[in-house]
This record gives sequence, C-alpha cells and structure tokens, in this order.
Amino acid sequence: MFDAYAIVGFMTALEDAARAAQHAPSVFNTQPWSWRITGDTMELYADPSRQLEVVDKEGRLLLLSCGTALHHARVALAAAGVEVSVSRDVSEHHLATIHVTGQAEPASTDLAAAIRARHSDRRAFGERPVAEEELTTLRRLVEAEGAFLHVVRPDQIVELAISAEQAGNAERDDPAYQAELARWTSRPDFAGDGVPPETGVRQELRRVPIRDFDPSGEQAQAAGAAHDQGTAYVILFGRSDTPVELLRGGEALSALLLRATADGLSTSMISDTIEVEWPRTLVRGMISGIGEPYVVVRLGYLPDSAPPPSTPRRDPRDVITVVEQP
Ligand SMILES: Cc1cc2nc3c(=O)[nH]c(=O)nc-3n(C[C@H](O)[C@H](O)[C@H](O)COP(=O)(O)O)c2cc1C
Repeated sequence: MFDAYAIVGFMTALEDAARAAQHAPSVFNTQPWSWRITGDTMELYADPSRQLEVVDKEGRLLLLSCGTALHHARVALAAAGVEVSVSRDVSEHHLATIHVTGQAEPASTDLAAAIRARHSDRRAFGERPVAEEELTTLRRLVEAEGAFLHVVRPDQIVELAISAEQAGNAERDDPAYQAELARWTSRPDFAGDGVPPETGVRQELRRVPIRDFDPSGEQAQAAGAAHDQGTAYVILFGRSDTPVELLRGGEALSALLLRATADGLSTSMISDTIEVEWPRTLVRGMISGIGEPYVVVRLGYLPDSAPPPSTPRRDPRDVITVVEQP
C-alpha cells in the first residue's frame, strides 16, 4: 500500500504516461483508445466509435493501435522510474490495467525520447542497408513482447510488392473505402486526428507500393530521389488473431518502432496487404502459414533530409479521465 502523498505522485506519472502515449501510431491516426486513472491504477479502453468500418471490420487494426499506446505508456513510466505490472484482461472495450508496484531506477530514456521523435516516413529510403544485427535486435524485442518478426527475404520482395499492389487496387476500386479514406484525410483541425494528405507520398515507381493517402496527388510529398534500395521489410505476426495477441502485437510494433527510431532508422507501416483477403493470404504464405500476419513495417535510412511532416493528436481531455481520490 502507498501513502496518499505517493499516490498523488503516481497519478501525475500515470497522466504523463497517458499523454506520452498519445504520440503512438494508429491506423489512419484514429487514436482509438482512452485512459482512466484511479489512484495507482490506469486502465486502457478501446473506443469502438473510432474503429474503421471498411478497412478494419474485425477490429484487428484497432487493437494493434491500442497496443502501441499501451507500450508507449509503459516506456514513459519506465523512464520516469515507475515500476508497474500490466494485466491484459480484455473484456468488451476494457483492454488492460497498468498497476503501479513501486519505484525503480529511471530506465530506457533513449526509447522515451523516441516517442516524440518517431513519425511515419513514407518517402523512399536510400541505399544504406539495415544491418543484420539491427534486425536481430528488433526481432528479439518483438519476441519479448510475445509476437514474431519475419524479415522479408530478397526472393520474397516481388511477392510482397504484388500483394501490396493488389490490396491497393482492390481498395481503390471500392467506393466505401474511398469514402472512409476521404473522411480520415480531411478531418477538421479541432478533431486532432486523421492523416493530413501532405504526410502521404505521391504514387511513384518503388520496390513495394505504399498506401495512397492523397488520390488527387495535389498535396502529397514526392517520394524523393531514392528508390527504397536499402529498405528492409519486416512482417510482424502473432500466433493468432485473439484480442490479447493483437494487443500484444501492438506493443511489439511500438517496441520495434521506438528502438528503430532511437537507432536512427526511418519507419512506416503497410497494412493494406493485411486488410484485403487475397493479399493477406499471400503474406501469410510468406511466413509459411505459421501465424497470423499483423502489419508490414518498412525500415531504412533517409540521410540529410528534413523530418517528415507530423500528424495531429487529440485533446488529452477527451482521452484521459482522472478520477479524483476522496
Ligand atoms: C495498425 C496500423 C496500421 C497502419 N497502416 C498504415 C498503412 O497501411 N500505410 C501507412 O502509410 N501508414 C500506416 N500506419 C501509420 C499511421 O497512418 C500513422 O501512425 C498515423 O497516421 C500517425 O502518424 P505518425 O505515425 O507519423 O505518428 C498504420 C499504423 C498502425 C498502428
């Protein structure tokens, strides 16, 4: 048991962590989560009103997104020297509970710094390859979070490209998808969510196509002078599609992205290959059918370039509830 003074300190640390978690990546920047802080406990909820009805009928990407927020909060708490236990007790919209267990030496400050430094960068990465040791580090981190990582082999790149191309075509031909994309790329400023079209990249020839966030091509950035020559493509996957595994998959995704960012890599995600049935089957085949693919991540280097434009975030008052103690 902690005294009232300690509880006040923990509540502040928990609120700071929930604010840091707002920087987590989420599908279409929907930020589909909320937090409730009571004393030394913080609960994570999914916000079903933010689920993408067309792109994410089953809610897999929503759970992955909530998992990235959960991991961001864990990293922020570790950096603040707050020791916690996490129970992933998914029922209805309740996803997890973070419980403060004590104080510890502040840890992983480079990861905490990466929370604000990380932005999805959809430009084509340069020739510098991602070192084997880096990929091994990322695979171990992902496994420590209970998920798995497959590094796409050179002989599998064409298959991944075909999968991404087919997914992109199928979604582009679907008026319901177009309407959902238009809704989330033209959000009003006050909403603090959605994908600004200028963070997208014009559709140009590249090794593996990426999602087109600006079909008019008027606002998107150029892909750049490079051609993804050194880009590593990794498939994050899990044993199954159960809610807890997906939540953990999101935590693993965050662990991978933050470590990669701290190590100077640029990153972005490709999930359209997982959203459409046939491309998803192709990606499942690339991991020999040993699990369920969650998302593909691009990793690479963009030397001497300006950081990509950032995306907005919701008002913390709409996301975080602090229950005052009597
Ligand atoms: C589960 C998931 C799926 C995503 N899928 C894609 C995708 O298919 N294409 C893409 O360019 N970005 C994708 N993203 C990245 C989001 O669009 C991005 O995180 C969001 O717009 C916020 O921007 P930021 O990452 O720069 O903070 C995905 C992110 C998550 C967590």
